[in-house]
Amino acid sequence: MPSYSGTIESKLPRVGTTIFTVMSRLATEHDAINLSQGFPDFECAPELRALATKYFNAGLNQYPPMAGVPVLREAVADKVVALYGRAYDVEHEVTIVPGATYGIYTAIAAMVHPGDEVILFEPAYDSYAPGVEVNGGKPVYVQLTYPDYAIPWQAVQQAITPRTRMIILNTPNNPTASVFSAEDLRMLEGLLAGTDIIVVADEVYEHIVFDGHRHESVARFPGLAERSFLISSFGKTYHVTGWKMGYVCAPRELMAEFRKVHQFNVFVTNGPLQYALAEHMKDRDAYLGLAAFYQKKRDFFLAQLEGSRWKPLTSRGTFFQNLCYDAISDERDTDLAVRLTREHGIASIPVSVFYREPPRHKVLRFCFAKSEATLARGAGILRRI
Ligand SMILES: Cc1ncc(COP(=O)(O)O)c(C=O)c1O
Repeated sequence: MPSYSGTIESKLPRVGTTIFTVMSRLATEHDAINLSQGFPDFECAPELRALATKYFNAGLNQYPPMAGVPVLREAVADKVVALYGRAYDVEHEVTIVPGATYGIYTAIAAMVHPGDEVILFEPAYDSYAPGVEVNGGKPVYVQLTYPDYAIPWQAVQQAITPRTRMIILNTPNNPTASVFSAEDLRMLEGLLAGTDIIVVADEVYEHIVFDGHRHESVARFPGLAERSFLISSFGKTYHVTGWKMGYVCAPRELMAEFRKVHQFNVFVTNGPLQYALAEHMKDRDAYLGLAAFYQKKRDFFLAQLEGSRWKPLTSRGTFFQNLCYDAISDERDTDLAVRLTREHGIASIPVSVFYREPPRHKVLRFCFAKSEATLARGAGILRRI
């Protein structure tokens, strides 16, 4: 095997293997129920698989257009205007990308210059800070309050400096399962008025909001839409996380810069899958019914946990349920997550890994995008702990 003997000055010295890989590997090693990583253990709609097959067999296997195939861009723009009342121009303001993570990274790469500050809310989805740092930016962290994981607006105001280039907002939020309100978005709109600060809005769980509430997209707020990259994921919406397909909507001026980076990075996104998704999107029920689908799973999981020593925190959206274990153990969440996998056969994600300087909250994150049989088995184990 070749080996490199020169010096490497890592651009990401603090980054190791992600916790998702670590926990999923541990879960496999110990044959544990894997409620750690955020992906479904059930199949996507058979119609969507059939459409994928249809388009793979339709002679569409060469490079599609750089911005994405027009029918899918149109389907996305139609959905966004129908749900959030904001019209994006299909030609210049919508781009199909290989997954939301890529969209977020590309928006950062296109906008953040060395020394620029980017405000992140902690706990933060793990791709944000490395994306900022590799582009020479400086993450500035604002911690959500605990245990309700709300935005402390005064702290946000204090974190804004003349160097602030961007704020990354994730609602519905992973890993906290909180959903930010219209009031929150109005606060942000007010704070950013008159500045050049860009918003990256990670809305991959846009269709998974519970208890009759609605998703507050940046697209609904004129003062945010004019400065935002709105990013979503077909993977989360259609139970196809392995396809790595997503989209980005942004005003023309921002999208032009985005496409400059996109064009020389991945250049295009899988063509046949774009056609399949475009056709599948005609069925609006698939995404409009998603909240009820996952709410049922959340409620099932919580009902199964009744009488246990785990204390559920509020899950308002996403497919995660956080459980507080302060009545069970004094261990650090990282230690407990590993021990539960090894000794009890259930894998979760310790929420502290989403912080740079973790507070000692005693919270594990469980993914309920699983069949009822898996959830019942997982909850059965948790009840006995
Ligand atoms: C908040 C958040 N953003 C982005 C992603 C990634 O989406 P994609 O698989 O489309 O890159 C995830 C997946 O877990 C997520 O939870």
